[in-house]
Amino acid sequence: MFSGIKPTGPVQLGNLLGALRTWVEDQHRAESIYCVVDLHALTVPQDPEVLRRTTMELAQLLLAVGIDPSVATLFVQSDVPEHTELSWILECTVSFGELRRMTQFKDKSADAEFVSGGLFTYPALMAADILLYDTNEVPVGEDQRQHLELTRDLATRFNSRYGETFVVPEATVARVAARVMDLQDPTRKMSKSDESPQGTILVLEDLDQVARKIRRAVTDTENEVRFDPAIKPGVSNLLGVLAACTGVAPQELASRYTQYGPLKADTADAVVEYLRPIQARYAELASDPAGTREVLVRGAERARELAALKMALVRERLGLPAR
Ligand code: TYM
Repeated sequence: MFSGIKPTGPVQLGNLLGALRTWVEDQHRAESIYCVVDLHALTVPQDPEVLRRTTMELAQLLLAVGIDPSVATLFVQSDVPEHTELSWILECTVSFGELRRMTQFKDKSADAEFVSGGLFTYPALMAADILLYDTNEVPVGEDQRQHLELTRDLATRFNSRYGETFVVPEATVARVAARVMDLQDPTRKMSKSDESPQGTILVLEDLDQVARKIRRAVTDTENEVRFDPAIKPGVSNLLGVLAACTGVAPQELASRYTQYGPLKADTADAVVEYLRPIQARYAELASDPAGTREVLVRGAERARELAALKMALVRERLGLPAR
């Protein structure tokens, strides 16, 4: 199991319910490796002090959410240089046309003033993250599915050109809340980098404010509670969030409500109770940065052992000198 998250701003409810929730469950099922992908943050200019701080805070949040360093490996991407080394090789494996078709690239470059080469080749670095560790499963939200498909294609292409080298991974997308939508505009996904403060719930946000935002979520003019993401995106989004917090299927939840008000109130309560212990654990961890640093150093050592073995094989396959 391998997955990653960018330290590019506060973690929002979509990250938590779509991805991190399953990371915590998955770590007990198989060997799990989780990564704070700081190099991926560099596709746009970053303030060095801010990046240093957000990388640390994100690692602390992952621990607060329940990643257990005694069972899972947690590390920072730039601590393991094999990621950038393999990334170059995969840039030479992917085609220009494939990269150009990535919807995330199209979205992010559409109205950007400066589009870095790194934004374009981003999926090659992501593929490197995954392929270095013989990953079978990659727990991600729905928005990463296309990058995963490309990763599979690159693994298969490399294997057929140079001989069996990489495991071809599968995306494991959460059954519910795989795409948490903006509370004010439920036709677009909730996103930490979006300019929609009222539509985005931050994991570390004041809990009264969390409840208020959910109670004011946009629904629709009918008054029927039904799980139907295409026709009723706002209501279905709330049902998906409530389902992720309670473990009850969204369709089953829908049958328990006849009006929006109680659904919003219950969703607000469920999210608040979901976030409360995470915030409390985060506050404890925040007072011990040295402890977190130690976890990350150990994580990077473990990751490097595995990554170095894979890179040795890749180098041999390609005819690059052994180290
Ligand atoms: P990132 O940092 O944008 O998001 C981290 C995880 O959160 C999921 N997610 C969501 N899920 C449901 N609803 C939403 N509104 C929502 N917003 C975000 C994302 O799908 C993701 O799983 N490219 C990746 C990071 C990455 C990575 C990797 C992931 C780099 N290397 C290797 C897996 C494996 C990204 O930008 O995620």
